[in-house]
Amino acid sequence: MKININPAVDPRERIIVALDVPTAIDAIELCDRLPQVSFWKVGLELFIADGATILRELKSRNKRIFLDLKLHDIPNTVGSACRVATKYGADFLTIHAAGGKAMMRAAQTEVQGSSTQLLAISLLTSISSQELASDLKVNLDLPEYTAQMVLMAQSCGLTGAVCSPHEAAALKARLNSQSDLDFCLVTPGVRPQGSEIGDQSRVMTPQQAIEAGADYLVIGRPITAAVDPVAAWDQICQECG
Ligand code: C5P
Repeated sequence: MKININPAVDPRERIIVALDVPTAIDAIELCDRLPQVSFWKVGLELFIADGATILRELKSRNKRIFLDLKLHDIPNTVGSACRVATKYGADFLTIHAAGGKAMMRAAQTEVQGSSTQLLAISLLTSISSQELASDLKVNLDLPEYTAQMVLMAQSCGLTGAVCSPHEAAALKARLNSQSDLDFCLVTPGVRPQGSEIGDQSRVMTPQQAIEAGADYLVIGRPITAAVDPVAAWDQICQECG
């Protein structure tokens, strides 16, 4: 089932808050402090610690779930992992586009007909242009490499990707000319006006990211590490319009 991306949707539903905490107890505490949040991201640390517990808890609270496992392995292994992951009822699940076409097709086959939508990781935002060229030996420049990964994911039947907000506008234009299928872009690297950028190198404000074409924004520390997370959430919602 595809997620319906309605531009008139309540902007608060576009914000996915990263539950980057070590245990289910910490995660539940954060959910209790922020009952307004409807979409939570569970990443590797929390999933490895207490995955089944927190996913069950989020479902019981009728929350939407972004399961950010960034899977990357041989097609059979990733396909099987995706099949099992659909049982958690997550809305989004990530796999690395760099795993290649056979891997992405195997994954897509396994989620087909479930409520889980796969998102392709185009390139980790922690990889710089220099690392891409000198360490990973990729000959394309970073924006072109990212675009190629996302277009490859689309050609394998995926309907969404994670990218930097700086790449969203160019990607949207290229994706739209390829297909009339709705393709969803999810962007981390979002910082509200006046907040610390931390280890994110290229950031945009929530409003800029949405204007650039982001359908969903992943925001962690500006909300979860704020002195007053509720006030931080409210400010971000206001910035989203
Ligand atoms: O705290 P912050 O807002 O930087 O959190 C961003 C979240 O998005 C983290 O959970 C991080 O793992 C995730 N993420 C990212 N860059 C990607 C993919 C995911 O920052 N390319």
